[in-house]
Amino acid sequence: MKYAMVNGSLPGLKGKELIEKWHKYEADVVGYQAPVVWKKAQGCIVEDVDGNRFIDWTSGVLVTNVGHCHPHLVRATQTASEDLLNNYECANTYRIEAAEKLVNALPKHLDKCFFLSTGSEAIEASLRLMKRKSGNFEIISFEGGFHGRTPGAASVGGLAGPKKKYGPTIPGSIKAPFPNPYRDPLGLCDPSDDFKKYFDYLDFIIATNSTGSLAGVIIEPYQGAGGFIFPPKGWLTRLRKWTRDKGLLFTLDEVQASFGRTGKMWAMEHENLEPDIVVLGKGIGSGVSVSAVCSTTEIFSCLAKGEMSSTYGGNPVASAAVTAVLEIFEKEQLVENSYKMGEYIKAGLNKIAEKCAYLGDVRGMGLVMGIEFVKDKKTKDPASELIKPIINKFAENGLLVGSVGMYGNVLRVAPPLVINKEQADESLEIMEKVLTTIKL
Ligand SMILES: Cc1ncc(COP(=O)(O)O)c(C=O)c1O
Repeated sequence: MKYAMVNGSLPGLKGKELIEKWHKYEADVVGYQAPVVWKKAQGCIVEDVDGNRFIDWTSGVLVTNVGHCHPHLVRATQTASEDLLNNYECANTYRIEAAEKLVNALPKHLDKCFFLSTGSEAIEASLRLMKRKSGNFEIISFEGGFHGRTPGAASVGGLAGPKKKYGPTIPGSIKAPFPNPYRDPLGLCDPSDDFKKYFDYLDFIIATNSTGSLAGVIIEPYQGAGGFIFPPKGWLTRLRKWTRDKGLLFTLDEVQASFGRTGKMWAMEHENLEPDIVVLGKGIGSGVSVSAVCSTTEIFSCLAKGEMSSTYGGNPVASAAVTAVLEIFEKEQLVENSYKMGEYIKAGLNKIAEKCAYLGDVRGMGLVMGIEFVKDKKTKDPASELIKPIINKFAENGLLVGSVGMYGNVLRVAPPLVINKEQADESLEIMEKVLTTIKL
């Protein structure tokens, strides 16, 4: 039996009607997605309102790591919502249990967390911590980076979209290049002499841009929205050393990279990074809106009582979700599956790349991969115009995939971590069928 099953064109009859109604009432300002109205989902399989079934390679947007509507997560949030829906800043049993469980699951040096609702909100909190702890206001971040759409997060972000016509960004946002092994005209990925070329350039950026008020660095372990770009091995370790040498705080934005996504529970484990601050989101609730900023007791002590708070932070239902997600990770081999299936899918994608004239690069770790489309594999000219037709063709064949990238020419491979070999094989068959016939 096939997992995917699509009858006729998309959207189907009911789907078409609902999409028209949606655009009548809600502003049509989100990015491009396959024309499918989701009705329900379980594990890796999404069903739409016309009864079509799809294999999901989006996980929402790297959210449903434990699989869509995991029964334990659903039950836990149902129970919590019957007990208590909200209590603002007060203690509640769900919040306390979630905090204990999260801190115990984190690398040892991170001994405190604080719950918020979205990734952007937790990024703002991390910027506040870096500025308050250091007493300085300059934050170094990276071209192509994405940390959210609120003003602070957009200011440290390195993509034009979230900042477009929004007015001046927050003063003190200093940008450095992110080493991109696929596109490296300046040779910044050169590992020789412990990435000397890159770090000489970084020193030059600081010397020419800083007013002498450096607080810290914020970085994603791999760039997500920027195009699923993975820095060369060892470079993050060198950056961590650079921050220590300069006495700067180091914040790792693991909003999309944590909870098993990269084949380890935390992306920081790949290089034993020991960040001062780690920001979590998406997978932490696996479908329930919750985020967290995690750090040390010492760093959090720069804030007085009342200086960090949020209406929904530590909400009982969101907290129950955090506990349930961590329990699922304890019981199921999701991290191992992420690594194993990631390697399997990557090998399959590399074979397809040999047969597809436009598939220029396949990269990633665990179940987060970017596949980059170019007009010509030598010139690497971005083939952005291929993305929408590919997303549509994949969907017509029963595979849901999203896009990212500075040039909008990268598809993201990010299924729920429960994907099995049969689902991976079926997905790869769909990809091969579409990608070996597509034309510019
Ligand atoms: C790395 C990273 N940081 C922060 C955010 C912002 O999270 P949210 O959309 O929950 O505000 C995102 C969202 O995609 C992200 O990928």
